[in-house]
Amino acid sequence: MDTQLLATDTPAARTEAVEAAARTLAEGLPVAVPTETVYGLAADALRPEAVVKIFEAKERPLFDPLIVHLPDREWLDRLTAIPAESRELVEALIARFWPGPLTLVLPRQEIVTDLVTSGLDTVAVRMPAHPVFREILARFGKPLAAPSANRFGRISPTTAAHVRSELDGRIPLIVDGGPTEHGLESTIVAVEGTHLRVLRAGPITAEEDLAGVWGEWRMKHGAAPDETEVTQMYAELGVSFQSLLRGEPGAAMPAPGLMKSHYAPRTPLRLIAPGTHIRLMGEGPGTLGSLAFQRPSKAAEFSHEEILSPTGDLREAAATLFAKLRRLDEAELTLILAEPVPERGLGIAIMDRLRKAAAEHE
Ligand code: TXA
Ligand code: MG
Repeated sequence: MDTQLLATDTPAARTEAVEAAARTLAEGLPVAVPTETVYGLAADALRPEAVVKIFEAKERPLFDPLIVHLPDREWLDRLTAIPAESRELVEALIARFWPGPLTLVLPRQEIVTDLVTSGLDTVAVRMPAHPVFREILARFGKPLAAPSANRFGRISPTTAAHVRSELDGRIPLIVDGGPTEHGLESTIVAVEGTHLRVLRAGPITAEEDLAGVWGEWRMKHGAAPDETEVTQMYAELGVSFQSLLRGEPGAAMPAPGLMKSHYAPRTPLRLIAPGTHIRLMGEGPGTLGSLAFQRPSKAAEFSHEEILSPTGDLREAAATLFAKLRRLDEAELTLILAEPVPERGLGIAIMDRLRKAAAEHE
């Protein structure tokens, strides 16, 4: 199969790309699309025979459920059955974070196919912010299931060129919307009654963004949360209240349904403590790569080094993480040593991805 790549950098090209995408999707075929997080591989969420093509192209196991991307607010009520007790909290989250990189896991309606949810009684939904993806959704007029547009277990693509290197010849069309803004996959939150549980850390942070909305919602109900309750809430969000008070990193929660090894480069990757002196015991001769946070590493001789953000900006680090991991992976190294980033705010999501990249090779 020939994989066509369409640009969107002029108004005419963009109109043409959006129409081609909508047409291809209507034929029941998958299309790679830009989102504000990472590139997605989209297909008609309501047609199992279209959704199955996503799994085929990615070689993704069928037990891993997909996120459904909504064209508008009305589709939320058609796809999900939000319990009365959760509704106000859900509305508050949507008002604050949609369109944007927040995925909500909610009880599902019948209309959602089992292939999308892997037979779970919940469905993951989000309303993306990328203008090109929004146009494609509006034009197509129906929800699109879309996982990240990489082969299963690999690094998520943040440019159209990354998508091509993952899926060339396997899908008919890639829409190029430029490099993605956040560079990390959306935050996934399960809404459980009047509580939230973070299933995957991402651009919407637990301790600031989510806890903020939840706290406001509690206050509005005349119940200023006491310390025990706040501690419990933070624990559910994967952050320890004590560590927040001390301004220290919180422990990230394991994410049920999400695999430990993910986002993996082919080259072995190891997380190291900053300033560690590296001795390659028993590894034999080889070439070392380094993924440093802010400053070049002094610890060892590296034949290839990438710096995530010279100014120590976690947003920049997140936005460039996957592209830099990919460059290191292409440099034919024996081992990549990655330096941890500060584990607060966006740093929690970055460390989650680095740990998963390292887990493949444990
Ligand atoms: O930013 C993103 O979320 C990107 C863009 C394309 O939207 N999508 C993405 O999809 O990262 P994917 O398939 O790579 O990751 C979705 C994760 C899966 O690991 C899956 O386990 C989890 O979402 N998920 C989907 N439905 C779920 C459900 N009902 N309950 C729990 N986890 C679910
Ligand atoms: Mg993925």
